[in-house]
Amino acid sequence: MPSERIQTERLILRRFSRRDISALTEAVQASLPALNEWLPWAHPGYRKEDAAIYIRDSIEAWREGKAYDWAIRRKGDPRRHIGNLSTWGVSRLTRTGEIGYWIRTDQTGQGLAGEATKAIMRVGFQELGFHKIVLRIAVGNDASENVAKKLGFAKEGVLREELLIRGRWIDHNLYSMLEQEFED
Ligand SMILES: CC(C)(COP(=O)(O)OP(=O)(O)OC[C@H]1O[C@@H](n2cnc3c(N)ncnc32)[C@H](O)[C@@H]1OP(=O)(O)O)[C@@H](O)C(=O)NCCC(=O)NCCS
Repeated sequence: MPSERIQTERLILRRFSRRDISALTEAVQASLPALNEWLPWAHPGYRKEDAAIYIRDSIEAWREGKAYDWAIRRKGDPRRHIGNLSTWGVSRLTRTGEIGYWIRTDQTGQGLAGEATKAIMRVGFQELGFHKIVLRIAVGNDASENVAKKLGFAKEGVLREELLIRGRWIDHNLYSMLEQEFED
């Protein structure tokens, strides 16, 4: 099992609990235009019930070792939800894992996605034994591509029509990092 609570310079990443439903709902609702552009689950009618289902599934997935989600909070303001970081195994045979993330809109542009993702890369390579970590980023999502590039991920190529977003199949860039490339 990976670390349930991780501290970075400015952030605390920790497992979700049922007490997070309201804070998660508020953060998603406050960021809907940006999230809805790239993440199919962030639909315009997102409400508490959606957050409750997400947290229930997240707790179960963690227990079963299928996927690990962390709630991102600022050290000085632990009640306000800043975003999510997740990792999960894609293939046991090749020891490949994937990372996904989002940051609430009024907190973007401060390097928080990069800071939180770096912490979870460490978990992936050092605790979960991944040989390779991938990011799938929609073509056109420049902000997320910049996060990947700044962390040193290499672009492998384009995955054609990888995800249905608001009724359109969207190509995604595949970015990856190998364990020997990770600089802690
Ligand atoms: C993508 C996202 C996570 C970036 O979060 P963030 O905390 O602002 O990212 P960072 O501050 O760590 O940014 C890393 C780099 O990307 C750049 N960047 C951030 N937003 C950008 C934008 N809209 N356009 C171009 N570059 C951008 C930053 O300037 C930074 O580079 P710099 O330090 O050289 O200036 C956030 O915008 C988000 O949640 N978007 C909606 C959901 C989403 O797209 N999730 C990812 C799906 S793959």
